[in-house]
Amino acid sequence: MLNNLTGILKDELDTPVLLIDMDIMESNIAKMARYFRTVNADLRPHTKTHKTPILAHKQIEAGAVGITCAKLGEAEVMAAAGIKNILIANQIVTGQKISRLVNLARYAHIMVAVDHEENIENLSRAAQQKGVKLQVLVEVNTGMNRCGVSAGESALKLAQKLDKAKNLDFTGLQGYEGHAVAIPDFDERKSAAEKALSLLAETKEILEKNGLQVNTVSGGGTGTYNISGQHPVMTEIQAGSYIFMDSYYRKVLKDFDCALTILTTVISRPNRDMVILDAGMKTVTKEFGLPEVKDIKGAELTGLSEEHGKLDLSKSNLELKPGDKIEIIPSHGCTTINLHDDYYAIRDGKLEAVWNIAARGKIR
Ligand SMILES: Cc1ncc(COP(=O)(O)O)c(C=O)c1O
Repeated sequence: MLNNLTGILKDELDTPVLLIDMDIMESNIAKMARYFRTVNADLRPHTKTHKTPILAHKQIEAGAVGITCAKLGEAEVMAAAGIKNILIANQIVTGQKISRLVNLARYAHIMVAVDHEENIENLSRAAQQKGVKLQVLVEVNTGMNRCGVSAGESALKLAQKLDKAKNLDFTGLQGYEGHAVAIPDFDERKSAAEKALSLLAETKEILEKNGLQVNTVSGGGTGTYNISGQHPVMTEIQAGSYIFMDSYYRKVLKDFDCALTILTTVISRPNRDMVILDAGMKTVTKEFGLPEVKDIKGAELTGLSEEHGKLDLSKSNLELKPGDKIEIIPSHGCTTINLHDDYYAIRDGKLEAVWNIAARGKIR
């Protein structure tokens, strides 16, 4: 039904509404794909950013080897939409989820991360019962201090256990240098990322000395795509944010442009210097800072409440009145997208398509 709106002007859309600038998004996808044709590592885009099968298909068409998901529920949505090669870059540990995981492995090629011995036993038992095989990566903590075992001996122990576990294929290592991806200075970012990657390289060497074959080393993000992407140890990079580039990431990296905005309407102008927008925290998140105003010099968002955004116009001579529409750029795309049901895809100022954000809210 929503697609009946196709062809209407962007400014005629009801607000607040999540927009994709199609030309920019397609250029971001193409640019990243082009880079990965010049290095040995593959691109396995993290779909926790867009959460939408048609966009994952676009990334694969452009050359990605498969996709990364954060959650099992996201992977189920992607597999149901025909995506065959999925890494769940996380630990799946409860009985309920493990049985969903092995079910999913009947329909798609599933890779999953582990960082605990008992988890290996549970995955192996469930995979045997279901008659499926799972590809498994040992997650190494490379400095982000989130999931993952220490580099070296601890990783070796898990890899050896995996190697013997029935119906599990020890496939390699995962290490995400999340502590490095948003360091603004390139040289500092590079040195932090390389320190993290050296832990993976060292671990790989130990495993291989012990007769284990390490086929896959997966990690990396948008901020390190051209650091990790050309490091000899990495076989695949999980960049996600590059598809839209939020305003926070754009400060770190200028290689990709901002494709995601929210069209919002002025609902009030309490005084000359301030207008109130119909977009608040239920429309756009602010953990990485307030959204930026697109293409209006001097206009600055100063606060968000649940359903209102305050826009300071004291440094702008723009005349805005209730009913006028402006676009704002989210500071954090991934969590903002999670608040919305649909994307409105815009080209040449007109609506081209409406896409359901099918994996939005799939946190289980
Ligand atoms: C495991 C993992 N891989 C990769 C990424 C990369 O994402 P981005 O492209 O947003 O840096 C993330 C981000 O949260 C992640 O958690």
